[in-house]
Amino acid sequence: MKTATKHFLNTQDWSRSELDAMLRDAAAFKRLRTGQQLAGRSIALLFFNPSMRTRTSFELGAHQLGGKAIVLQPGKDAWPIEFDFGTVMDGEAEEHIAEVARVLSRYVDMIGVRAFPKFVDWSLDRQDRVLEGFAKYSEVPVINMETITHPCQEMAHVLAMQERLGTQDLTGRKYVLTWTYHPKALNTAVANSALTIATRMGMDVTLLCPTEDYLLDERYLDWAKQNVKENGGSFSVSHDIKAAYKDADVVYAKSWGALPYFGNWEQEKPIREQYKHFIVDEEKMALTRSGLFSHCLPLRRNVKATDAVMDSDGCFAIDEAENRLHVQKAIMARLARELD
Ligand code: CP
Repeated sequence: MKTATKHFLNTQDWSRSELDAMLRDAAAFKRLRTGQQLAGRSIALLFFNPSMRTRTSFELGAHQLGGKAIVLQPGKDAWPIEFDFGTVMDGEAEEHIAEVARVLSRYVDMIGVRAFPKFVDWSLDRQDRVLEGFAKYSEVPVINMETITHPCQEMAHVLAMQERLGTQDLTGRKYVLTWTYHPKALNTAVANSALTIATRMGMDVTLLCPTEDYLLDERYLDWAKQNVKENGGSFSVSHDIKAAYKDADVVYAKSWGALPYFGNWEQEKPIREQYKHFIVDEEKMALTRSGLFSHCLPLRRNVKATDAVMDSDGCFAIDEAENRLHVQKAIMARLARELD
């Protein structure tokens, strides 16, 4: 029987030196493109939610390293899965995670999971039960392809910042994670991740959001504070747009729903509508030191950021999206080494 070694569920579970090594490997993969690190290996990619970048980059990344990726969409082209215990399974689910994860483990060497929160009850969503279910029962490494955090995006983001700033050492660089308006209440995953990795890299991090209602879950605020203690840098919250943007080295934008209104999105919507002016535009970017801006994509132009910002020389969202391919190859190659 294969034995589960180490999963890639969160960057916070990995040491700084391990993350740095994977970032160096990713930079090397960017130069070399192909390799045999996954020769004879396979990965199952389970998508409970849509994707363009994640699916494409994982499938191609496995192929370029000599491996094979299988995409499954539970509830669409694969059986719906039950994650609770003790449930009388007389509803939609045809099989249980205890069987799914173990059976897949007999076929493949790694399992990737994308499972967004249900957006009804944050106290349940924050348990990340789908990902944790796979991690518990899988006998092979599990990779988080975005659940309530998005660690692969974090790695791609850091690599792109290192490239744009011309240094691997991001310590002390001023980083602004800004909330932006979106017509729908979105997942906090990328925001949780941005805060986690920027503080992990020792940056001077400001979380810019309209009000206290848009603060992130305390788990990620605590991680940010812990990271500052361990890695230097700083972390603060601001509701002042001009002060936050002033002299920033990097601005990263993301929209998310207010946690106190979780599940009551009709109540939250008129509040969110008041903050459309958080859009990233040229006027705000002119306050920064470098004009460097990014977003994880997909992005609604002229809602989250203007055309001018997206088309500016300082926008590195496309570089970051490309880097998903390279960092995920580094992550898969690293996990494959554990299996040897
Ligand atoms: N950024 C990202 O994960 O993109 P997809 O949702 O298209 O995979």
